[in-house]
Amino acid sequence: MQDKRPEWSSHLSFIIATVGSAVGLGNIWRFPYIMGKNGGAVFLFTYLLLIAFICIIPLCCELGLGKLYKKNVINTFEIISPKYKWVGWLCIITVTLIPCFYFVVGGWILNYIWIFLTNELPVNFANYFSSFSSQIFMPCFLTILFLIMTAIFPFRGVNKGIEKANNLMMPLFALMLLILAIFALTLPGAKEGLLFMFKPDFSHFDKTMILTALGQALFTLSIGMGTILTYGSYMKENTNIVKSAYTLIICDTIIAVTAGIMIFPIVFSFGVEPSAGASLAFISMPQMFSELPFASFFGLIFFALLFFASITSGISMMETTVAAFTDKFKISRKKSTVITTAVIALISIPASLSFGVLSNFKVFDKTVFDLLDYTTSNIFLPFNTLIICLIAGWSIPYFWKKIFGESFFGVVFNILLKFIVPIILIFVLVTGI
Ligand code: PFF
Repeated sequence: MQDKRPEWSSHLSFIIATVGSAVGLGNIWRFPYIMGKNGGAVFLFTYLLLIAFICIIPLCCELGLGKLYKKNVINTFEIISPKYKWVGWLCIITVTLIPCFYFVVGGWILNYIWIFLTNELPVNFANYFSSFSSQIFMPCFLTILFLIMTAIFPFRGVNKGIEKANNLMMPLFALMLLILAIFALTLPGAKEGLLFMFKPDFSHFDKTMILTALGQALFTLSIGMGTILTYGSYMKENTNIVKSAYTLIICDTIIAVTAGIMIFPIVFSFGVEPSAGASLAFISMPQMFSELPFASFFGLIFFALLFFASITSGISMMETTVAAFTDKFKISRKKSTVITTAVIALISIPASLSFGVLSNFKVFDKTVFDLLDYTTSNIFLPFNTLIICLIAGWSIPYFWKKIFGESFFGVVFNILLKFIVPIILIFVLVTGI
């Protein structure tokens, strides 16, 4: 039996849920790292310009499509024209593949929460991480556990599950981030850390830096896979799209910058090389926490922070697929969640094993985990975003008027949507591939 189409109970809940989707692992260590490596303040300024004038367009576009059609991502494109049905499916494929590697990291986070909770800390985190992640059973088990913990919320529904989870977890997340950032600023490496992040270095101002900033902006805003469209389809009729989009962008950026203010003073206080990705979060940071007074307290807060960030993003990924399967196959939300969970479980196991027994199994010279990460972030996201903009701009008569009325912003939006943003995205895709 099909469930009635839900609606957010308040505007605030809608904003918190979209911020919960946008703020994820991408903000906590990827953003600060690439900001530091790409010219600090120069990168931040470029990123802000891109996000405020370019990424705002696909963001408003997805929110607008959600508000206009009030459907899941597959049905939305099918209604626009049956020939665009494949676009909805492409979004679903993308948003189902992302959790297959994202949740492996979620499993690692659960493990680290456990070791800081029980205070059973290894002496050398580098050795510990490589021996843990290459095991067969435990990382797979924790990936599935993280998946099930996430699935509970879409299973329970938009109001009773997703909304409640975000309304509880996001304020906790913000509080923990603030505690850690304030603590980090009291450390001796604070000045050096902030300089690394914010010092403008104009030598980095080039094509690569601009592309990096744009790629990060698309990933962090969860654009290009129907997630924002799906959350937008539950919004109330009187919601202002431009205001909501800018609120989302501002919150996401503030959180990403605060994450940097938390991470770099700690990194520089310990003289660690500010390295990227997994090694910073799962080797350097816990190693440093373990050497601080109150090790288990700060370590626990850090991994709880990562947990809240990743689970609220994970919920939005799953909800996109769950909502689509529910409507498309006319099944209950519960059944749809079980099917989505089973599909993700099946693909995430080889992704987890690619750090151990499957490390030599490579496709296009990439392990399963890297392949999922690379293709979704660098190919599917910009490609899907491009197609969504082209369809909204060229195939929906007066899309901009329907969203913005006759306002000046509407006219500018229309030009950006039809010409400027697609040209930039084609450029990103060609260079990325
Ligand atoms: N925006 C999330 C992050 O920055 O980590 C990632 C993400 C969330 C991707 C939701 C896709 C998605 F549907």
